[in-house]
Amino acid sequence: MDSIIVRGNGPLSGQIPIAGAKNACLTLMPATLLSEEPLTLTNAPRLSDIKTMSELLASLGAEVSSLQDGKVLAMSSHDLNSTHADYDIVRKMRASNLVLGPLLARMGQAEVSLPGGCAIGDRPMDLHIHGLEALGAEIDQRDGYLYATAPKGLKGAEVNLTFASVGATENILMAATLAKGTTIINNAAREPEIVDLATCLRAMGAQIEGDGTSRIEVQGVDRLHGATHPVVTDRIELGTYMLAPAICGGEVECLGGRINLVSAFCEKLDAAGIHVEETANGIKVARKNGRVKAVDVVTEPFPGFPTDLQAQMMALMCTAEGTSVLEEKIFENRFMHAPELRRMGASIEVQGGTATVHGVERLKGAPVMATDLRASVSLILAAMAAEGETVVNRVYHLDRGYERVEEKLGNLGAHIERVKV
Ligand code: UD1
Repeated sequence: MDSIIVRGNGPLSGQIPIAGAKNACLTLMPATLLSEEPLTLTNAPRLSDIKTMSELLASLGAEVSSLQDGKVLAMSSHDLNSTHADYDIVRKMRASNLVLGPLLARMGQAEVSLPGGCAIGDRPMDLHIHGLEALGAEIDQRDGYLYATAPKGLKGAEVNLTFASVGATENILMAATLAKGTTIINNAAREPEIVDLATCLRAMGAQIEGDGTSRIEVQGVDRLHGATHPVVTDRIELGTYMLAPAICGGEVECLGGRINLVSAFCEKLDAAGIHVEETANGIKVARKNGRVKAVDVVTEPFPGFPTDLQAQMMALMCTAEGTSVLEEKIFENRFMHAPELRRMGASIEVQGGTATVHGVERLKGAPVMATDLRASVSLILAAMAAEGETVVNRVYHLDRGYERVEEKLGNLGAHIERVKV
């Protein structure tokens, strides 16, 4: 198993390319199941989660070819021969449940393993189920699986989500493209990944309006055709690398970044005293002198502050001047990084969904353990400005969501290397 060794050092400088969004790609890939014709994705990120989704699609009979060093995914679901998403794959990655809506819509049935809990919380699927049932699906839960059928085909309906779940919106949206009649999703998630999915589905012939707002309207069509679609920029990778110069000092340009993808996050950086500027090629971030100021953060669905940047923001707050309060409103157990940051000298109290961080002058390197994807990168960010050496163990979490992290940060001047243990 690999570890990452980081030696804290001074200011960073240079440019860092931001990849296509993991979370967008993981919902765009199952969209291939909706059509007999090929779907090609460009600007795909090269990550282990993408390989897992490729494996899952292949297990259903889809063909997935990874071209141009993984940046292009050419898919065809012409000859699907299974509707069974097995526990062995689903347990590795919760986003596997995104095959449910497309399989039901195209094949009239699906058996999808329930994902179970994960390090950051319980993560039920009730909203996905209620939405698909509203479209006429019959769904049974037994033996750890969802058995879904649509004996009379799916039919458009009004779906009211009690929470703006990203995954539920995606599953219902994909299913609705082939349902008969009109579907309206109220309280839909507004994340850029939803807009990207709707854009791709429209390129495949779907009729969708209102994506990016809380009310999405879909007119079902008889069939979808092939398309080529570029994956939107990864706003979480973007925010993560914007924090590198904020934590270590220096000036870095994140290539391909746009402020509208991360505006709530940029407001917090601004309040902390970090300079953020949109350029022709991306976003430039600079911290010149002195410590950053403590700011409070509440995670919310888009356009609010993303839960997927909370751990990294906490790493910044560890050495801020003053006390900051971080409130986690999306996942109940998402402070697993706090005890690890404490091992590096951070002063953090966690109570329920709230973490209070008292900024210290400097963190000290220590051996630490990655507990989930975003927690692992927060430890790397913290280590880059800490005194001495930090060894981050269990970095397989990191490879799920960040491509070539040591190379990208190393190019900015960070002292970071991967070792096989
Ligand atoms: C997606 C992202 C994940 C991000 C999250 C919130 C992908 C592959 N993953 O996850 O990185 O952290 O959005 O921005 O895109 N919930 C229910 N019932 C449901 C569905 C969700 O109670 O049926 C709850 C969840 O337990 C959680 C909250 O809703 O507390 C948000 O979940 P959701 O928006 O569905 O996140 P995901 O789509 O799983």
